[in-house]
This record gives sequence, C-alpha cells and structure tokens, in this order.
Amino acid sequence: MPEVAAVGITGIGSYVPDKVLTNYDLEKMVETSDEWIRERTGIRERRIVHPDQATSDLAVIAAEHALKDAGIDASEVDLIIVATATPDMLFPSTACLVQNRIGADHAGAFDLQAGCSGFVYALSVGSQFVATGKYKRVLVIGAETLSRITNWDDRTTCVLFGDGAGAVVLERVTRGRGILASCLGADGAGADILCLPAGGSRLPASEQTVAAKQHYLSMNGREVFKFAVRVTEEATRQVLQQAGLTVEDVDHLILHQANIRIMEAAAKRLGIGSDRLVVNVDRYGNTSSASIPLALSEAVVDGRIKDGDCVVMVAFGAGLTWAASAIKWGHG
Ligand code: ACO
Repeated sequence: MPEVAAVGITGIGSYVPDKVLTNYDLEKMVETSDEWIRERTGIRERRIVHPDQATSDLAVIAAEHALKDAGIDASEVDLIIVATATPDMLFPSTACLVQNRIGADHAGAFDLQAGCSGFVYALSVGSQFVATGKYKRVLVIGAETLSRITNWDDRTTCVLFGDGAGAVVLERVTRGRGILASCLGADGAGADILCLPAGGSRLPASEQTVAAKQHYLSMNGREVFKFAVRVTEEATRQVLQQAGLTVEDVDHLILHQANIRIMEAAAKRLGIGSDRLVVNVDRYGNTSSASIPLALSEAVVDGRIKDGDCVVMVAFGAGLTWAASAIKWGHG
C-alpha cells in the first residue's frame, strides 16, 4: 500500500446557544427533579436554540471559529462534511447551507448521518481525502439542534438533550502527529432502539404521525446504556491496538457526552481514571454529533490538551453506530 500523509486537526472551534435550560426549569415542565437528573445522568443544564436558529446557524459560527484558529480563509476549504441527525431540512444538506454562508466557494459539501457517532465518523472520512492528497483542507462539523426533535412532555428523554456545534479543520501534519488510527462500527439490528420514526419515506408526515408524536426522538434508554458501555470499551481497545498504544498512553479520553454513568462505567472497565476523562455533559447534556468536538474544543482552549498529548475520542449512537479515533495532538 502506498504511504499516506499524516493528517491532523489544525484548527478547532465551537458554539453553543446562550439560552440555558436548567434541571429546575425542567421540574416545572415534567414530573422530574434536579436530583434524579443529576444522579442518573450527571446533567445540570443544557443549551437550547432560539426559535429563529437552526442547525446550520450553529454550524456556521463553529466553522468560522475553526477556520480562524487554523489561520485559513473559507475560500481555501476543499470539502465540508457536516455530521448531524438534525439537519435544517431533509434536503439540501446542511453542509451546502454552511458552504454558502461561510463563502467556501471552492468546496464540495455533504452531510453524514451516523447518529451521535457522526462527528467521529466524519473525522475519519474527511481525513482520507487529505491523507491521499486529493484535498488539502477539509472542514468537519458536528452540529445539532436535538431540542427540535425532543418531546418536551416525555420525561424519559427531554431531560437528556441539548443543542450545540463544534468544528475542526483537517490538514497534513508532521509524521507521528495527527490521527494515528480510527475505527468505525455499526449494528443495524439495533435500529429501533434509537430512532426518529416519522418524516422519512417509511412514514411520511401525516396528521396521524403528528398526533402519534412520531416526529420526536424515540429511545429505549436501558438498551442504549448497555450497548454504549460495551462498545465504548471495545472501540477504545480496538483503536488503541491499531495505533500501537495502550490504555496507559491515553492522556485524555473524550467519550460521547450522553451520560456521566456511561462514561465512568466504560472508563472503569478500561482502567482509565476519571482524571483523564474530559467531561462537559453537566453543562450541555447530550448534544449528539456536537458533543465530542465541543468537549475537545473546550479542553484545547483551556489548556488541558497540550502539544504531544494522546487524545482518544469514542462515540456511540443511533444506527446503532460507534466510532473511535486516536490522535497525537499538535501539528508539529
Ligand atoms: N425524572 C424522574 N423519573 C424518571 C425520569 C425523569 N426524568 N425518567 C425516567 N424516570 C423514571 C422511570 O419512569 C422509572 O420509573 P419506574 O421505576 O417507576 O418505572 C425510573 O425512573 C427508572 O427508569 P430507568 O429508565 O430504568 O432509568 P435509568 O437509570 O436507566 O436512566 C436513562 C434512564 C438516563 C435514560 C439511562 O437509561 C440512559 O442514560 N440511557 C442511555 C441514553 C443515551 O445515552 N442516549 C443517547 C444515545 S445516542 C443519542 O444521543 C441520540
């Protein structure tokens, strides 16, 4: 196989809406309590978009921050991939809307749908274009407005989700830096465990689907929980093995921010202490494809992640899907 170039993250940015919805606010909306939500999930509050904001609006701001951080102009971007389960519309893709808004007039653009694993999937897909030399600069965005598909009368799901976006620029980096390994997985037999039943070609929107609340996210929480802990451990071990690393080498483990209990259970199985876990689920809840780039961005900006650190990102989500990436931070 011909040797491929090393590819890494050369710019990163994120954005969350300013509107905060606390557990105390939710106590007034459904039969729940701050104590229940914190103990079962670790979430204290989440951000919610304003009525006039859509997923592309969050994506554009995160993308502009990432481009600025990379020191490049939008016109230099070759490809935009937006990972989202909550696009502005079924079509055209949210990536095309972002391409127009940021002025990336030389870029191809498409959306990637892998549930909450979307960003880590997109990172792997986007990096292939740079590794092979096909493209120089790829913009990968994870952006979501889960609040738009949440049934705010259903306490078993409405306490979990929030809105936000994170973005990275991928470019060639010094050998030994950047993405060392990545793996992708799926098990479509679990498609019913976590889905949005209506609004697609199986169940087009109708009075009946609206009345039956089938345009809201539907989830079997206990099944997702078990699946998540299992695949998070397996995917972490797999990506570390591919990268020629061990769990001792991991400086920062960034897991999909769905539930603190899932993160702690998986980290415990791996023998990784909570001091190496990057956590922000307490402030943002589960932001699906945005959760990992949001956590990564915060840890980079506040100086926790330093040049040369080993960062492992692992996500799981609807599909069912999972994905992992091991990165040596910095561009060299
Ligand atoms: N407030 C108070 N009580 C509640 C609430 C709530 N918000 N939600 C559920 N309960 C009740 C249930 O009705 C149940 O009551 P019962 O015993 O009388 O029947 C009790 O609490 C326990 O419910 P469980 O579902 O067993 O609670 P569990 O400990 O499993 O926690 C949770 C539920 C938080 C959803 C958990 O299963 C979980 O986090 N699962 C994973 C979810 C996830 O990660 N989803 C996202 C994946 S991908 C994506 O983001 C799209």
